[in-house]
Amino acid sequence: MELKLVFFIVFLFYISGVSSISHYFTSIFSLGDSYIDTGNFVIMAPSGPPLRYDKLPYGMTFFGHPTGRMSDGRVIVDFIAEEFELPLLPASMANSSSVSHGVNFAVGGALATGIDYFERNNIVSFKLLNTSLDVQLGWFEQLKPSICNTTTEQANGFKNCFGKSLFFVGEFGVNDYDFLWMAGKSKQEVESYVPQVVRKITMGVEMLINQGAIYVVVAGNPPNGCAPALLTVLMSPNRTDYDGLGCLGALNSVAKRHNMMLRVALGRLRGKYPHAQIIFADFYQPIIQVMRNPSHFGFASDGLLKACCGTGGTYNFNVSSACALPGVVACKDPSASISWDGIHYTEAINRFVAKGWLYGPYADPPILTAIHHHH
Ligand SMILES: *[C@@H]1O[C@H](CO)[C@@H](O)[C@H](O)[C@H]1NC(C)=O
Ligand SMILES: *[C@@H]1O[C@H](CO)[C@@H](O)[C@H](O)[C@H]1NC(C)=O
Ligand SMILES: *[C@@H]1O[C@H](CO)[C@@H](O)[C@H](O)[C@H]1NC(C)=O
Ligand SMILES: *[C@@H]1O[C@H](CO)[C@@H](O)[C@H](O)[C@H]1NC(C)=O
Ligand SMILES: *[C@@H]1O[C@H](CO)[C@@H](O)[C@H](O)[C@H]1NC(C)=O
Repeated sequence: MELKLVFFIVFLFYISGVSSISHYFTSIFSLGDSYIDTGNFVIMAPSGPPLRYDKLPYGMTFFGHPTGRMSDGRVIVDFIAEEFELPLLPASMANSSSVSHGVNFAVGGALATGIDYFERNNIVSFKLLNTSLDVQLGWFEQLKPSICNTTTEQANGFKNCFGKSLFFVGEFGVNDYDFLWMAGKSKQEVESYVPQVVRKITMGVEMLINQGAIYVVVAGNPPNGCAPALLTVLMSPNRTDYDGLGCLGALNSVAKRHNMMLRVALGRLRGKYPHAQIIFADFYQPIIQVMRNPSHFGFASDGLLKACCGTGGTYNFNVSSACALPGVVACKDPSASISWDGIHYTEAINRFVAKGWLYGPYADPPILTAIHHHH
């Protein structure tokens, strides 16, 4: 009898513990680029070829219609929001009236550094949106009064508003590096940008902490040398340019260097802000692990380097007939593919990455572990 009661109490404890974790965060705010954009790019950019993120099959797997997400379904922050039973994050440019549970400032194409350098030096041949990390931080500051608007909060600079908020910074950096790669820069040149890109990200994290953020997840770069779009555009006749998985070695090597420097920089920030929980989210290893052992994780083992939605060539990617352009359709089973459209990942990969950041092993510390430490 007594034993049963003890079990029962332990059981109740367990249940309440679990539910308090699942409702732990009251809001999520995210900054980043197309990997987590939930609609900003489509609102901001003039629509039309070569990019049709506003058309099916974008959104086909989960929403059934395009939402501005660059995937067949949900993006990483959607899975994180679901985990904490929060609504999926509205894009900040949608001007939603309900921002109290969070907003997503991420925009496809966003740079860590400013756009001025890229435009002045003609590194890109098209007009860039002014949406870099600094600009997104500015949007966050503008929105703060409508997120927590009490006179006491205003007086102390909103510092007590965000104790139960989860912040995402990034991924940032892929666009900075990719524009340089596509402009024909050498590995040495691209690599020389890593310190300034990492510095920008670190400054962004620091600024959020100074504004009251406690939980900040900082995502590293994915293995972009394995992206069908880059494999196509930067195709090389020299076998030594490819690694064992068939990816472009120089691109992945810069991504790894970026991730290593970012981890070191975040380690320093942890020392400076011991009250904060700074999480490094690994976006590189989960993709590489799936590529090394696809069937183990439920992915198809053929066509690992092919886009699911695209046309032709070695990697099923052609920049002039990209996903969602007339006649360009998705593969039969997007959930078995890694790359959705040549750059962005399928919903299946996004879910896998999100779970790895929440529960481990792809985050340091995993988000749920960070909560327990702080509890
Ligand atoms: C939200 O407001 C901004 C700035 O006023 C505007 O550029 C944008 O188009 C608006 N979004 C929508 C969906 O109307
Ligand atoms: C980008 O936007 C920021 C903030 O609104 C502004 O200060 C900056 O001058 C803009 N940069 C360019 C190149 O338009
Ligand atoms: C915030 O509060 C101030 C003072 O109470 C008020 O004047 C202002 O309109 C409020 N802003 C919003 C967005 O609710
Ligand atoms: C291929 O690349 C390697 C390493 O960069 C270089 O040593 C070699 O000469 C290149 N081969 C050809 C055929 O260009
Ligand atoms: C890419 O698509 C365009 C337009 O459909 C086509 O003209 C071109 O031949 C394709 N390129 C390759 C390499 O398949």
